[in-house]
Amino acid sequence: LPRVLSGIQPTAGSFHLGNHLGALRQWVALQETTEAFYCVVDLHAITVPQDPAELRRNSLVSAAQLLALGVDPERSALFVQSHVPEHLQLSWVLECLTGFGEASRMTQFKDKSQREGTAGTTVGLFTYPVLMAADILVYQAQQVPVGDDQRQHLELTRDLAIRFNGRFGDTFPVPEGVIPEGAARVMDLQSPDKKMSKSLPPAGCIFLLDDPKVTAKKIRSAVTDTGREVVADPVEKPGITNLLTIHSTLSGSTVAELEERFAGRGYGDLKKELAEVVVDFVTPVRARTQELLDDRAELERVLAAGAARAREVAVGTVAAVYDRVGFLPPT
Ligand code: TYM
Repeated sequence: LPRVLSGIQPTAGSFHLGNHLGALRQWVALQETTEAFYCVVDLHAITVPQDPAELRRNSLVSAAQLLALGVDPERSALFVQSHVPEHLQLSWVLECLTGFGEASRMTQFKDKSQREGTAGTTVGLFTYPVLMAADILVYQAQQVPVGDDQRQHLELTRDLAIRFNGRFGDTFPVPEGVIPEGAARVMDLQSPDKKMSKSLPPAGCIFLLDDPKVTAKKIRSAVTDTGREVVADPVEKPGITNLLTIHSTLSGSTVAELEERFAGRGYGDLKKELAEVVVDFVTPVRARTQELLDDRAELERVLAAGAARAREVAVGTVAAVYDRVGFLPPT
């Protein structure tokens, strides 16, 4: 079976609709046909300042949401990144293969460091993409389901795999991104020129764990475009196009079908119906997440089993890598 790895940050506690439509629904689909490893990347979450109690809580909430969305712990290894120390062991080796200039060109680093300011920018934020490469390569994963914003990080991962193989002999498959056709980049509802993100004001971001009333209101208040026809046009109508994409991905209707159905009706009708579609989707996810959180012992058992399964693979990769780069075995 092909191996799959993906990760998600626990930073906001609740995931948002961009996470789900761009990545998580693919996580769930891929477990049918692959051997999948899915992690809550808490190590990545401390590259910007965090509150310790909140991080612990958010890691649990994240794991519960992944289960609620359909990650099946019988099929896939679901775990917390810091429980598998081999990610860090491989990360160091990969850091020593990454050019300083190469890392400096990562646009997410440039954006985030600008936001944090010079004083707040850490070396961890800088090396973040190398740790991500290690997450993937430590499982010798071939497929990585992610949204569009991770393309550049994936390209770095591929370059590092090729470089390591060239220097030390064939060790890593060169992984491919699994990036969806529609919804690879869900846009903010208030600023449809920006991707939906937890770091923008919350009015434009649909959090899966929001109160459904809040969710419906956010959708009804989404900014729309000039004109009144419900048609997809990313340049002239970025707001409506985004709403149509979200609807289509969740409901299974094609964008063309939706355009036809809303012909002669206004933006308001689309938003009203979309609010229902989204609320119908998030309501059970929210309830199931809460249920899972109520049985913390069981949740922790799932994560421990996931980490044990992940380590079985990761320990082997690190042993091979340590040997190939020339470390003396500690016997
Ligand atoms: P993160 O936690 O920011 O996001 C998790 C996943 O959601 C996708 N995503 C989106 N997709 C569509 N539209 C959006 N507006 C949107 N916002 C986020 C992301 O592309 C991602 O797939 N660096 C990663 C976490 C990571 C990782 C890994 C991913 C760490 N190690 C190894 C894959 C493999 C990140 O910050 O994702």
